[in-house]
Amino acid sequence: MTAGSLTFRTATVEDAPVIAALVKSAYRGESSRAGWTTEADYVADERIDAKGVSDKINDPAGVILMAYDKDGVLAACCELLKKSEKLGYFGLFAVDPQRQAGGLGRQVLAAAEAYAKNEMKVAGLEMQVIWLRDELISWYQRRGYNKTSETKPFPYEHLVNGKALRDDLYFTILYKDL
Ligand SMILES: CC(C)(COP(=O)(O)OP(=O)(O)OC[C@H]1O[C@@H](n2cnc3c(N)ncnc32)[C@H](O)[C@@H]1OP(=O)(O)O)[C@@H](O)C(=O)NCCC(=O)NCCS
Repeated sequence: MTAGSLTFRTATVEDAPVIAALVKSAYRGESSRAGWTTEADYVADERIDAKGVSDKINDPAGVILMAYDKDGVLAACCELLKKSEKLGYFGLFAVDPQRQAGGLGRQVLAAAEAYAKNEMKVAGLEMQVIWLRDELISWYQRRGYNKTSETKPFPYEHLVNGKALRDDLYFTILYKDL
């Protein structure tokens, strides 16, 4: 599948280490500060390891989409999970921090929505965002996602090789009809 300047494919378990590295670089630590939005001030862990990514790839209800640029370099990834007949979940969304704010994220989200609608046949997508990330929530709202009244606890007990930097974290749930 090609959309905009990116070409997409679904991940296999062999891709798990490179996906885990991309996700960590975008969400956490100093490398993520090259991007315009990061969780580095809230959590100091690895976000997910290769085993966690493999588990998602092996889940028959889900896929991880990998987005390659025209030179064949991995630029972005995201996860889609069919939670029920009607509802899909979008997550693990990462654009290489050196290449953010150039429109790649918008392309990946649009391709994921098309995959969720046409391949998974779900009617809507939800996602979870740490409540403090106003700039990211606004970005999703500009793409048609709305805050729901639902929240989810932050997984303080299940962080990967690290710790949270605040004790008031939880997720806001956003939703969009496809
Ligand atoms: C969220 C993410 C996937 C978006 O990817 P991207 O390639 O940067 O996205 P785009 O280039 O399509 O869009 C950039 C947007 O940021 C906005 N932006 C740029 N700099 C900004 C800043 N300093 N503050 C607020 N918004 C900013 C731009 O205006 C643009 O929004 P618009 O298209 O509505 O005008 C990417 O930033 C990322 O990987 N972040 C780290 C991981 C993460 O937070 N994932 C999502 C978890 S739910």
